[in-house]
Amino acid sequence: MIVDAHGRRFRNLRVSLTAACNYACTYCVPDGKRLQPAQHELDGDELAYMVELIVDAAGIEKLRLTGGEPLLSPKFDEILPRLMSLGLADVSLTTNGQLIDRKAAALINSGLRRINISLDTLDPERFTAIARGGDLATVLSGMEQMRAGGLKVKVNMVPMRRRNADQILPMLEYCLERGMELRYIELMNMGHLRRGNEYLRDFISMDEILEAIGARYEFTRTDAPYDSTAVRYEIPDQGFFGIIANESEPFCSSCTRLRLSSNGFLYGCLSNSASHDVKPLLDLPRHQAMARLQGLLVRALHDKQDVSFKGEVTVMKFIGG
Ligand code: 5AD
Repeated sequence: MIVDAHGRRFRNLRVSLTAACNYACTYCVPDGKRLQPAQHELDGDELAYMVELIVDAAGIEKLRLTGGEPLLSPKFDEILPRLMSLGLADVSLTTNGQLIDRKAAALINSGLRRINISLDTLDPERFTAIARGGDLATVLSGMEQMRAGGLKVKVNMVPMRRRNADQILPMLEYCLERGMELRYIELMNMGHLRRGNEYLRDFISMDEILEAIGARYEFTRTDAPYDSTAVRYEIPDQGFFGIIANESEPFCSSCTRLRLSSNGFLYGCLSNSASHDVKPLLDLPRHQAMARLQGLLVRALHDKQDVSFKGEVTVMKFIGG
């Protein structure tokens, strides 16, 4: 097991199945730059094999499938059962929910217990303005199907000053009423946001989110596991919500995440564009591939920031949220 000077090791692997997405969210995709073709991606077999090697080499306990939009990938149906059979403590999926309808039975029958659905607003017009793709009713119905199928649903919302600040309470109310846990994600200074002043204008801090919630609800902070990215709050008798406070309470010093992009690169840190190509390992015998992988993991662990997220040119679409 590889451990660094902060005592960090990789326990959580996030696998991006494809960089393709049927949304073009304003904070992820620059104006006028909609879909780019997904290029040079590993096929389902290669990706599943790489995940198996990484799980063994790094001692991964938790796996999350992301994208792009993972349900868009033709690999999804083949790869899900293979990854479920690895015997990991936890497997989950992050999706924008547009294609849940088509995949509902497969998802429910796969043994997946949790799903994270991204949704930034309950207002259909604002939804279109932010996501620039898909439609709101489809996401809501997808959530409902997952809930009815017995999956634990978390909802990811990125609050932004000019786009959905007024949705902080309505989204919470909606989730509480349905037994879903809302996670507010502080806007991260990634990709094209680093260039203009959009980030500074739209960023809403954890304190401001809590203040908005405090106008309607009483809440208390709960204990979170050591390597959790979210600060979690309980609203007595009503439920929980979380804040992923990248800026306000950075969690770099206890981060255990490792990312594998759909084109076969390992990323040790969202705030570092350094990446490590695993594709050459596909041609090696397993024992040699494992030895090389150990070397790449040492380097990827070294890529982590010591204290806080500093921003990066990379975007979620390519390396997975
Ligand atoms: N800041 C915060 N969250 C982001 N996501 C994508 N880009 C950003 C960003 N710049 C979120 C998506 C999704 C999750 C995978 O990452 O909204 O919920």
